[in-house]
Order: sequence, then C-alpha cells, then structure tokens
Amino acid sequence: MNNHRISSSRFLGAVIISLFFLASCKQDQLTGPGTTSNPGNPQIPKSPGTIMIPADNLMTPEKVELGRHLFFDKELSVDGSTACATCHDPSIGFADLRGQATSMGFAQRMGTRNAPSLANIAYNTFLTWDGRFPSLEKHAAGPIFNSLEMGNNFSTTQRDTTPSDYNSGPGPFDTNFLFKRLIGHTQDPQQKGYADLFVAAWGSSEISVKGVSMDHIQKSIACFERTFISTQSMFDQYNNGSATAYKNNAPALQGFQLFTGKANCVSCHNGYNFTDQQFHNNGIGVGPNNIFDTVGGTGGTDIGRMSITKKQEDRYKFKTPSLRNVALTAPYMHDGRYSSLADVINKNYNHGGNDPNVVNKDPNIKALNLTPDEVTAIVEFLKTLNDPAFTVNPNFANPWLK
Ligand code: HEC
Ligand code: HEC
Repeated sequence: MNNHRISSSRFLGAVIISLFFLASCKQDQLTGPGTTSNPGNPQIPKSPGTIMIPADNLMTPEKVELGRHLFFDKELSVDGSTACATCHDPSIGFADLRGQATSMGFAQRMGTRNAPSLANIAYNTFLTWDGRFPSLEKHAAGPIFNSLEMGNNFSTTQRDTTPSDYNSGPGPFDTNFLFKRLIGHTQDPQQKGYADLFVAAWGSSEISVKGVSMDHIQKSIACFERTFISTQSMFDQYNNGSATAYKNNAPALQGFQLFTGKANCVSCHNGYNFTDQQFHNNGIGVGPNNIFDTVGGTGGTDIGRMSITKKQEDRYKFKTPSLRNVALTAPYMHDGRYSSLADVINKNYNHGGNDPNVVNKDPNIKALNLTPDEVTAIVEFLKTLNDPAFTVNPNFANPWLK
C-alpha cells in the first residue's frame, strides 16, 4: 500500500508551484477567486472562497517557513521520534502514510483515532473528529501536549497554560525542555536554524529559551497549515465546465450523479470540500476505546461529539470529513475501520449503516441498494477528487532533508 502511494505521488515531478501559496504570503486574508455560485450543481461551488485569517496571526512567508520547519521537526516530540508530518504526510494529502487505522505517536504509543487529511484544512470551522478545537492556532498545541502523540508536559511556570482539553499534565518534559531541544537544532550547520527563522518570523533579536514561546510555535504552524490549498483535481476541472475532464471516464460522471442524486451523499458531503462542517452518526456503529471519553457509563467507547457537548443527542456523532484526496488516505472513518472506499460504501452506506440500530443514526442514512457497478462508479468519482499537484507541491517539502 505504501509503495503504491509513494510512486503515484512522485509521478508528476516537483515542478508545480502553488499560486495560492504565493498569494497567501502577501495578504492578511487569502483571497481565492471567491465562492462562485454553480447553477448546475448548487451544493458544490466551483471555488473554495476566502479563508478567514485571525487578525492576530496574519500570513507572512517568514511565519509559513518557520511553521514548515516546525511541522517536519521530530524534536517537537519528547524523544525526537515524531513530527506532525509523521502522521500527516504531504504525499497523501497530509494523512498518515503508514496506513495505520489509528496513528502511532512517540514511544510507539497508539492513538485512538485515524489521522485526517489536512487538504484545505483552513476552511474548517471545527478541528478534530469531535470538533474540540475552534482554530488551527489552538489545535496546534493539541498534538504537542498529547501523551499519545508528542508527549510534552506543561511547565509549572507561567510560560504556558494548561487547558483541560489538552491530554497532558505538568511534568519534567515541559516547554523549557522543548524550547531547548528546538534551539539545539540550530547548531546543526547543515540546516537553517531556528534562531534565524524565529527572528525572521517574529522579529525577536533574542532567540533563547526566553525568546521562543508556545504562542509563536502555534501561530507559525497554523500559518503553514493555511497554505494547504487543494483546488486542482479532475473534478474541479469538470465542475468548472471542462468538457474533456470526464470525457474518458464515464463511471466518474455517473458516480458524481449518484453522489448528488440517488445515493444522496451530498446531503452531508457538500460544499467545496465535501463537508457540511456538521456532526453526524453515519451508521458505522460503536468504535473502540477513547481516552477522551470522560462522560460516565459509556463503556469506554468513542462517543464523538458528545465528549465535547455532553449532550446525549450528540452521542456517536463525528465531523463529516472532507473527501478531497480521499482515495489517497485509507483507512477510513474516525477509527480507520474500513480499508477501501468500496468497503465504505458496501459495508456501511449501501445498507443503511453497518449497525442500522445504533443510537442517533442520521435520518439521511438509508439502505441505498446500489448495484456493484454503481458502487464502482461512486469510487471512480471519489478518485477524481485527488489533486496530483497538491501532493507534490515543493512548498510542502521536508526542510530538514536538504
Ligand atoms: C501521532 C500522530 C499525529 C501527530 C504526531 C500529529 N497528528 Fe494531527 N492528527 C492526528 C489524529 C489521530 C487526528 C484526529 C484527532 C481527533 O480527532 O481527536 C489529528 C488531527 C489533526 C488536525 C485536525 C484535522 C481535522 O480534519 O479536523 C490537524 C489540523 C492536525 N492534526 C495537525 C497536526 C499538527 C500541526 C501536528 C504537529 C504539531 C500534528 N497534527 C501531529 C494524528 C497526529
Ligand atoms: C448523514 C451524513 C452523511 C451521509 C449521507 C454520507 N456521509 Fe460519508 N461520512 C459522514 C460522517 C459523519 C463520516 C465520518 C464518520 C466517522 O468517522 O465516524 C463520513 C465518512 C465518510 C468517508 C470516510 C472519509 C475518511 O477520510 O475517513 C467516506 C469515504 C464517505 N463518508 C463517503 C460517503 C459516500 C460515498 C456517501 C454516499 C453513499 C456518504 N459518505 C454519505 C457523513 C455522511
């Protein structure tokens, strides 16, 4: 599986430059072409629209560059084993290249959820499967202070806060220890060090343990993530009126018609990124244990959105994921239970859910009775959401491999 992914991503070579990236560096808002109404297909606009950038974290090329170094830096984990990119690899749309159902963090600790793709993540209203984080800035500290991902502790001094939704506590591997590791990285003569990068991004002349802060780190990573723009799939060509895009791919066209018609996938997977940004129970049934499940009496299952809202009506609901580049990001669902797109449809959607009696199943999940050819057609359509330019974008290259 991994070999297949790597070879397909190398195929186009590394010559394609993201215009969005360049645009994003100059402006305080990343202004795309604007969401264009699409009379032929009102539920999927032709372009992604404008990204809202927080006023206190405007985009600059220097912050993006620092964020890129941090994103690929294994020193962000306590034992130097795990970078963000370990679980979010650009060659498959920033999902986990290792193909595990749930991702392995530092010290080979297994997480409880599947690592999502980060394509067009800037458009998300909520982050993570249960939507616990409202912004990329707030989220960026999540994996850093997660005892199953990067393993850092909060410091007992004033340098950082201890919000209850980060899965960590105070301890010896605190942010002072983290900042020292990062600064240590500057001593490698082969690499552009953090001293230069932090000064360029944040204008501090004193890069020492004092000059670096979690705020800088979180904001820089968020700037880098906002450049993950995927707009060049075959579907985009079709949706923008290209007569040739699906010319030799009749199943993909049929699949799109099923997706928006008989199969009604579009009732949840709508908008430019094929997500309504809402939480639903799509009938897959109860998943494995979740360390975040602190609501009593649930038997140790992952209750999804309910772990945030504490409302019974949100039990087992998860965020509708984007489907952009989805053919690259197997396995599927919050717990990685399905290994292929055909399985997703055959084992779940085609008969109204894997567990039709699960609590709070969404009313739009009904037996579809699709024929095998129709299932194949939907899969062929989903494959056309791959963006080959995105997965080889040189702006997403690992800077530590130079
Ligand atoms: C050990 C693997 C692992 C590491 C390391 C990791 N992530 Fe993730 N990431 C995940 C998993 C699993 C999820 C889903 C978490 C959840 O739903 O609770 C996730 C979710 C996310 C999301 C939200 C995606 C969405 O669709 O809502 C973003 C953004 C993200 N990660 C960015 C990062 C950044 C930035 C770093 C480094 C600071 C990082 N990740 C490190 C595994 C990882
Ligand atoms: C009622 C809303 C709803 C409908 C209708 C729906 N989905 Fe989903 N879809 C979801 C949610 C929610 C998830 C995540 C569920 C989870 O992980 O527990 C999901 C997950 C997926 C995934 C996995 C993506 C990933 O990255 O893991 C695929 C693929 C998918 N849906 C395709 C489809 C197709 C194809 C259809 C139509 C046959 C469809 N969906 C209909 C809400 C819906």
